[in-house]
Order: sequence, then C-alpha cells, then structure tokens
Amino acid sequence: MTHLPVAELHLHLEGTLEPETIFELAERNKITLPYSDVDELKALFEFADLQAFLDLYYANMSTLRTAADFAEMTDAYLTRAAIAGVRHAEVFIDPQAHLLRGIALEEVLEGVTSALDASVANHGMSSGLIVSMLRDQSAESAMNVLDGVIALGTPILGIGLDSAEVGHPPSKFVEVYAKARAEGLHLVAHAGEEGPPEYIWEALDLLGVERIDHGIRCMEDERLVERLTAERVPLTVCPLSNVSLKAIGRLSDHPLESMLRRGLNVSVHSDDPSYFGGYIDDNFREVSDALDLDVDDLVTLARNSVTSSFADDVRKAELL
Ligand code: ADE
Ligand code: ZN
Repeated sequence: MTHLPVAELHLHLEGTLEPETIFELAERNKITLPYSDVDELKALFEFADLQAFLDLYYANMSTLRTAADFAEMTDAYLTRAAIAGVRHAEVFIDPQAHLLRGIALEEVLEGVTSALDASVANHGMSSGLIVSMLRDQSAESAMNVLDGVIALGTPILGIGLDSAEVGHPPSKFVEVYAKARAEGLHLVAHAGEEGPPEYIWEALDLLGVERIDHGIRCMEDERLVERLTAERVPLTVCPLSNVSLKAIGRLSDHPLESMLRRGLNVSVHSDDPSYFGGYIDDNFREVSDALDLDVDDLVTLARNSVTSSFADDVRKAELL
C-alpha cells in the first residue's frame, strides 16, 4: 500500500508535533509545560470530543516561537510523510492560534514556507500551504489574517476553515471566502465532522468550496450525498481522527466503506497524526484491516487523493 503514491490533503502541521518534540521545544524556548514528562502528556491523548482535543492542541503549540521552530516542525512532518508514501502534501497552518499569543504572521509563514519550498529537493514531494481560519474566532479576525497574508505576498494554495465546528457555521465567513476567491485562492472548509449536514450545504453554496474536509455527516442527508456524488466533490476523510474524537464509535463502524460504495469522491488522510495514532500510512492500514475494503478500493482512495489535490495536471499525471 505504501508504494502507491498518495497525496496528503488534510493535515494540520501543529497536529504533527510529537510529544518528544513538544518537550524539546519547551526546553529550548523556556516554556514550562503542565506535564512532567512525555508519558504524562501521552496519557492525556484520550478525547471526549473535538473541543477536548482542541484544548490540548492549542496549549501544546505554545511551544512554537521562532521561524526556525515552524521550519523544523514542517520538515519533521515531510520526513515522516515521505516514509508513508506521500508524494504531494497540502498542509494546514492555523495562524490565528499563533497571532493570539503574540507570534508574528511573518515568523509563522517564513518558517513553514522555507521548509515547504525545499520539499521537492529534500523529500521528492511537491507541497503547498493552506491557511486555515479558526471558525470560533470572528470573521473580522479571519479577514485580517487573509489581508496579512496577501500583504506579505506569501504564496499559498488557498484558505480553509477549522476549529470548533458546532455553533460556527460556514455562513459566518462568506465575505472572507469571497475575498479569497477574488484573489484566485483555492477554497476548502471543514464541515460535517461534528457539525450537521447543513454546514456542508453552506460550505458548498455560500463559501463555494472545492473540497470538504471530513464531511462524514453527509451520510445523514440523502439529497446531499446525491449532490456530492454528482459533482464529485472531494471529501478528505480522516478515519483515526474520527474515532479518537468520538465522531465514530469504532473504526469498524466508520462510514468510509459506505461512502465509497455510494460513489462519493473520498480519500483518506491524517488530520493530527501525533494525537490520533498515526500518519496516512497508518490510516490506510487500519481502515483496510477494520473495513471490508479490497485492493481496488485502496487504489481508488489513493488515486482520489491525487485527483482531488490542487497539483497541476503535469504533476497529477506523474502521480497517477
Ligand atoms: N484543528 C485541528 N484538527 C482539527 C479537527 N479535527 N477539526 C477541526 N479543527 C481542527
Ligand atoms: Zn482537520
């Protein structure tokens, strides 16, 4: 499986901080963590829901301070992803989570993009950055980030929408997405992870997104499944994440198999691999063990990841 080229399309860079790295960064940056060692931190990786995870995820990223820290985190991810067979990666960063604690946007973007710029040379992997807006912050704050990125001239692939979903519908961000579209950026959004199918409709109809991140709750709405299938809208599904955050009870109950059988354009990704038990190869292995998927299904999932990417046609052809 790992020999099939795959594209990672749903990965939060801050969710790749391994416990050991969190302690190294804390020491380097003289930050006192509320856990005394790696085992105590790992013992907290049991989440009641998305918010419980987000609380720990935001707390741990406070160890990132300099552009060099962001570059190291990004390169460590690329190194691990290459082992997993990832040949193209479109990764998320959450600038607001860093701005809110006094880290400049330049510092974040410079660090991440310096590592991504070297991904082809160092890892044989094409890559791009998606700036993700925190939906539990204001639309004005998201607009400020977008304006900041544009002013800096940092090349990014597009924008996304993440963080606490319920109570923060896509409709809140119509103007931000309209501006990003006018700037020629690609548009994606998390929807239907914990939130209802209506949020997927809104992401499509009000934000004009090209991909839905997660989207698993589409299965509760037959008309939505028909729409997503007819339009081949990509759904970037993260099975280990859904089990960790209790969106799904057990991996064997994951709707991925039914989604494939319905003809939905699904692909498999990692979300926050250091917290949820694995990278894209681990996700592939575990779903193929838990669900009734044959080799053709795994090939379909891998190919969907490439066709759903924002890579250019030449790069896609190389990977298919
Ligand atoms: N930020 C990082 N991981 C996330 C997830 N699974 N859902 C929403 N926001 C996130
Ligand atoms: Zn995510």
